[in-house]
Amino acid sequence: MKKILSGVAAVALLFMLGACGGSQKSEGDSQSKALDAVKDAGVLKVGMSADFAPFEFHSMVDGKDKIVGADVDLANAIADDLGVDIEFMDMEFNAVLSSLEQGKVDIAISGISATPERKKSFDFSDNYYNPPQKVIVNKKNADKFTSVDSLKGKKVGAQKGSVQEDVVKQQLPDAQMVSVAKVPNLIIELNQGSIDALVVEETVGASYISQNPDLQFADIDLKSSKDEAYSIALPKDSGTLKTEIDKIIKKLNDSGKIEEFVQKNIELANKNADK
Ligand code: ARG
Repeated sequence: MKKILSGVAAVALLFMLGACGGSQKSEGDSQSKALDAVKDAGVLKVGMSADFAPFEFHSMVDGKDKIVGADVDLANAIADDLGVDIEFMDMEFNAVLSSLEQGKVDIAISGISATPERKKSFDFSDNYYNPPQKVIVNKKNADKFTSVDSLKGKKVGAQKGSVQEDVVKQQLPDAQMVSVAKVPNLIIELNQGSIDALVVEETVGASYISQNPDLQFADIDLKSSKDEAYSIALPKDSGTLKTEIDKIIKKLNDSGKIEEFVQKNIELANKNADK
């Protein structure tokens, strides 16, 4: 009788161990699924909207058009660390997150603000940059546009699908918002006077201002929020792919590399404009 009982116990124990091991394994699998897929493919596909100096923009390198920028440097550092190649897919900002959702890219790096709204649909890495919101105007109108009120009824541009659309709606509610797909086209419209102002983050604004001598920041204070800090977007439940990326971001932040990437690309964007 004892023997039978211990036999039953042994079988039960084996069964439990098996079940437990099994569940641990499938948990492990789902945690590393995204990372494994990238490693198996041998390439990290990155979605971005290369209209956003100094983070991602087009530049002639050795006579060839290339996508460069601080986000490109960041993406390259990640691919290096993972030991895979990199492929950039350039698209309008408005399409970046939907491409990620559709699995056309593995991650999206595009100066993307990790807002609570976006966090409902995507995983986000730790933040890597957090520039404040700014208004840009024509120099000749800088004395005229010095307050939120002064933009009442005026045309204020924002990139389509960006948090700047919300900034205009919430903080400049009496302005007339004009959504434009690409940042350089917003700059052209402002230069031509078909819009009166535009909202953009400071680092990006400063880069386009130094390329466009007739433009300047307006003396208007907008509220900025830590919810608008830049993060890398990943599909939901990216598990260890996100953990790895967070580790790399921490390393690059701690060593001052991210700031170095930004400064280097501010210069590169300016040089571009000189040509
Ligand atoms: N930070 C803003 C956002 O997430 C604008 C990002 C625009 N990025 C770009 N590459 N055009 O909505």
